[in-house]
Amino acid sequence: MNPSPSTMGDIKLTYRFILLGIFSFMIFNLLFFQGTYHLAQGIYRVNDIWVLVHTFILGFLMMVVMGVMYQLIPVALLVSIYSNRLSKIQFWTYAVGVIGLLVGLWTVNTTWMAFFGTLTFTGVLLFVLNMLLSVKKLIQWNAMALIIVTAIFYLFNTVLFGLLLVLNYRFAWFPNIHDQLLYTHILFGIVGWLSSIIIGFSYKMAPMFSLAHGYSEKFSKWIYSGIQLGIILLVVGIFSHIPFFNWIGALFIVIGFVLFSYQMSEIMKHKMKSTLDIGFQVAVYAVYGSLFIIGLAIILYMFLGMSILLPFAYFFIMGWIGFSILGYLYKIVPFLYWTDKYSDKVGKEPVPMLKDLVSEKKGKIAFSLLFIGLIGNGLGIGLHFISFIWLSNTIYTLGAVYYGYLILRVFKA
Ligand code: HEM
Repeated sequence: MNPSPSTMGDIKLTYRFILLGIFSFMIFNLLFFQGTYHLAQGIYRVNDIWVLVHTFILGFLMMVVMGVMYQLIPVALLVSIYSNRLSKIQFWTYAVGVIGLLVGLWTVNTTWMAFFGTLTFTGVLLFVLNMLLSVKKLIQWNAMALIIVTAIFYLFNTVLFGLLLVLNYRFAWFPNIHDQLLYTHILFGIVGWLSSIIIGFSYKMAPMFSLAHGYSEKFSKWIYSGIQLGIILLVVGIFSHIPFFNWIGALFIVIGFVLFSYQMSEIMKHKMKSTLDIGFQVAVYAVYGSLFIIGLAIILYMFLGMSILLPFAYFFIMGWIGFSILGYLYKIVPFLYWTDKYSDKVGKEPVPMLKDLVSEKKGKIAFSLLFIGLIGNGLGIGLHFISFIWLSNTIYTLGAVYYGYLILRVFKA
C-alpha cells in the first residue's frame, strides 16, 4: 500500500505545487496585516479580504491539496494518474490564473477578474478531468473513493460559482441572485470540497500514520449522507429564503461532523503507535477542534446573532481546514521526499530515517506559535480589537515562517 517511485505521479510537479503553496502562505500572512482594519470592523465583502481569502484558499490550500493528490490518489485508490502531461499544463494554467485573479480582485478590475477567473476555472477543470479519468480505472469502490469523487464534484461547482460571481461583476448577468451565488460558492468550497477532501483522505491517512487496525467504519455512510443532505438542504434554503431549510441543513452537517469525530476517535482507540508525530497530532486535534468551533458558534449565535459569523468563519477555515492541511503536510512532505529519494536505496547504502528529515521538537514550536496566533486572531476579530490582531498575527506569522522553513529544509536532506 505504500508508494514506490514507480507508482507515484510526477513528483517534481508535486514539489512545485507545494513550494508555490508555501510561498502563497507567506504572502497571505503579510496580507493579513493589511486586512486587519476591515476584519476588526467585521467587514469582509471588500477587495482586500477577497484577496486575503483567495490567497489562502487558492494559493496555499488548493495548491498543496492538488499537488499532494497527484501522489495520494495512486496510493489511496490504487489507480495511476491519467496523464502527467495534463498535470503540468494544469499547474501552469492554474498558477497563472490564480495570480491574475488575485491582481484583478485587488484592483477590482472586472475585466481581469473575468479573464483570470476563467483561466483559474480552466486550470481547475483540467485537474478535475485528470482526476476523474484516473478514478475511472477504479475497480472496487469504497467510502473513501466516493467521498473523494464527491469532493471533486464540489470543487468543480465551487469554481463554477466563483466564475459566475466574477462574470456577474463584469457583465451583471444575474444581479438578483448574486448573494445566493456567493453563499453557495462558500458552502460548496468550504464544506463540499475542502472539508470533504480532508475527511476522505483521513480514512486512509489516519490509520496509516497511527498504525491502526480492526476499527469499525460503520458510520461512514452516515457521515457521507449527513454532509450531502446538509449541503442540499442549505442550497434550497439559500435560494428559497426559507430559514427552516438552513437550520435543518446545518443540523445534518453538524451530525456528519460529530460522526466523523467519533470515527477519528475510533481509529485512535485502535492505534498501535504509542506516540503520534506532531503533524498528525495537529490534524487529529483539528477534527475535534472543528466540533468545538461548530458547537460554540451555535451557542453564541443564539445570544449574539450574526455578529459571531466572521470570527467563526475564520476559526473554521484557518483552524479546522488550515490546521488539518498544515498538519498532514508536515507528515506528507518528508514521506514523499524520502520515498522518492531513498526508498530504492534501502539495504544498498546508508539512508536517513524518515524521522531525520523533519524535526518533531521544532515542529511543536512552529505549531504552538501558529495556534496561539490563530486563537488571538479569532478573538481579535470577534472583539473588534485591531492592535490585538496585529500582535497575534505577528505570532502567527512567526509560526508560519518557521513552519515554511522546516518544510523547505526537508528538500535539503
Ligand atoms: C475560479 C475560482 C474562484 C473565483 C473566480 C472566485 C471568486 C470569488 C468572488 C468574486 C468572491 C466575492 C463575491 C462577493 O463578495 O460578491 C468570492 C468570495 C469567496 N470565495 Fe471565491 N472564487 C474562486 C474560488 C474559490 C474557492 C475554490 C473557494 C473555497 C474553496 C472560495 C471561497 C470563497 C470565500 C470563502 C469567499 C467569501 C470571501 C469574502 O466575501 O470576502 N473561492 N469568490
